[in-house]
Amino acid sequence: MSDQQQDTDAPPPPKGRPAGGTEQSWCKAVPGGTGITVLSLLLSKPPNFSILQNTLHNLQISHPILRSKLHFSTTTTPSFSFITPPTPHLQIQLFDLSSTAEILRSLNNPSLSPFQLILEHELNNTTWRDLDLSLYSETDVFFASVYSLSDAEWAVVLRLHTAACDRTSAAALLREISAAVAEGGGGVEREIEGGGEVSLGIEDCVPNGKGNKPFWARGVDMVGYSLNALRLANLNFVDVESPRCSKVVRLKISSDHTHRILSGCKSRGIGLCGALAAAGLIAGRSSKSLPDDQWEKYAVVTLIDCRPILDPVLSSNHLGFYHSATLNTHDIKGGETLWDLAMRTYNAFANSKKNNKHFSDMADINFLMCKVIDNPGLTPSSSMRTSFISVFEDPVIDHSSEMHREIGLKDYMGCASVHGVGPSIAIFDTIRDGALDCMRGFKKGVGKFENLRRSLKNNFEFSRI
Ligand SMILES: *[C@@H]1O[C@H](CO)[C@@H](O)[C@H](O)[C@H]1NC(C)=O
Ligand SMILES: *[C@@H]1O[C@H](CO)[C@@H](O)[C@H](O)[C@H]1NC(C)=O
Ligand SMILES: *[C@@H]1O[C@H](CO)[C@@H](O)[C@H](O)[C@H]1NC(C)=O
Repeated sequence: MSDQQQDTDAPPPPKGRPAGGTEQSWCKAVPGGTGITVLSLLLSKPPNFSILQNTLHNLQISHPILRSKLHFSTTTTPSFSFITPPTPHLQIQLFDLSSTAEILRSLNNPSLSPFQLILEHELNNTTWRDLDLSLYSETDVFFASVYSLSDAEWAVVLRLHTAACDRTSAAALLREISAAVAEGGGGVEREIEGGGEVSLGIEDCVPNGKGNKPFWARGVDMVGYSLNALRLANLNFVDVESPRCSKVVRLKISSDHTHRILSGCKSRGIGLCGALAAAGLIAGRSSKSLPDDQWEKYAVVTLIDCRPILDPVLSSNHLGFYHSATLNTHDIKGGETLWDLAMRTYNAFANSKKNNKHFSDMADINFLMCKVIDNPGLTPSSSMRTSFISVFEDPVIDHSSEMHREIGLKDYMGCASVHGVGPSIAIFDTIRDGALDCMRGFKKGVGKFENLRRSLKNNFEFSRI
């Protein structure tokens, strides 16, 4: 048999690529409960199932990473790859009124809206936890469900693996889904990302000179720096035994109030992320009822969307995980004022970024994350906390409420789970038509969490600006 014939007889080789360094870390983290990204849409009209299914399939066509499967293989070194089937395959899972009601009953928390409960329920889904890493195994990265919350409200929930979808990607998905649904399910020619294949991971898009491979790999040598972070203060970890899940606190701020906060940031030359980190640190610390003047050291992780500074530059519609992070520590003794602390946290972050630490620290943070997954005992009470709080450098800005009204989109929330390795609190902020909407995920096991939920909401210093 000639080579030619062999080629024609064999099935086409599956397309794909090995996961990059950051993606590999997420593959290790997600089964433990950190990095389950959920985008949840609240609709006032029943979604047209065929339009929705069609829209999601079109998304899987235009973004190959969304139809990829993560394969785990131990054949050479244990590692993950993206394998991309040629055609879309997502099946929407439907929960009718009675099955949704049953789920809500089991969650048994009348103080939260059904919409938020369903979001928490999805953040808690164990799909990826069941991945058996001792075998050759594979998993989808993208799931979708529709829940009937009542006769007048439906939730469309997308759940994505963070290796395939960071926060910028989730915002892009929301834009594309709204537009497609408004158009009646596509038909519009869309650009196909990466020529139909999963495009490069972040490590392979670092501009020349800034991040040659050895520079990025440097983190592995920085064990000292990394492990120090594990000795920092976190929220008290009371319940170590029961299964962990992420909880969400939501804070919606009027556009007037948001304007005051943003002007406060602007006049001090700082970004919103500094104010959010400071408000989170103050609220978190006050929930611990420590005596005043007791110093503690807290770590703040700031996530930076690297798309605009990569080579090639990627647009904000380019899906995947393209964030890096910096880690800064702050000594806090209670009684700090919001703006002083905001300037401290922001300036520390800005300084790190100026020194390109978002490139060098990223490897450290990936390394730290994997180290803790393998050795939870490195952290107090095996809590797996690697920082106190994480914030994003820039908020998501959304001006599409006109279109949202058209398609009956009443509300939406997006965030990712943090109950495995990660911060005690993660902030996901969006400015919608000028109004700030903050999702703060935090993990169960950090004290009596309904009290904490209240404390985070009430003590978030923004109310006093
Ligand atoms: C859903 O949309 C399709 C295409 O516009 C339409 O043909 C169908 O009747 C719609 N179904 C329902 C239940 O409205
Ligand atoms: C999350 O999952 C755990 C374990 O499966 C379960 O005990 C808990 O009630 C779930 N919580 C939510 C909010 O779904
Ligand atoms: C988790 O997600 C998978 C895939 O969508 C689904 O089959 C399963 O029923 C979900 N589990 C729970 C507890 O909702």
